Amino acid sequence: MEMICKTEQVDERDARSFDTPKGEVIVTQRDGMFYAYLNHCPHLGVSLEFQENQFMDMDREFLICANHGALFQVEDGLCVFGPCKGQALTKIDIEVHSDGGVFFRA
Ligand code: FES
Repeated sequence: MEMICKTEQVDERDARSFDTPKGEVIVTQRDGMFYAYLNHCPHLGVSLEFQENQFMDMDREFLICANHGALFQVEDGLCVFGPCKGQALTKIDIEVHSDGGVFFRA
């Protein structure tokens, strides 16, 4: 099973990206739960960030695409504001192991 990162690398209400064999994956944490998405905006199919690991809006409520300001819910990747409203980030199924590893679900 392929590990993406360790839980300690992603703070609560923050997000970071990691290069994986399946592409660049954003991992984010909310209320102790971890969620992962491909770093691929459904609007134009480009990476979300302009600056490294800047994936959260100012309130750290939503994932944000820096290109045109689309906002995505952390829990399901649904776009709730912006040019791709109603579309969603591509969710990656993950599982968190007791040793703190975040893995692709097989
Ligand atoms: S490319 Fe993401 S909102 Fe336009």
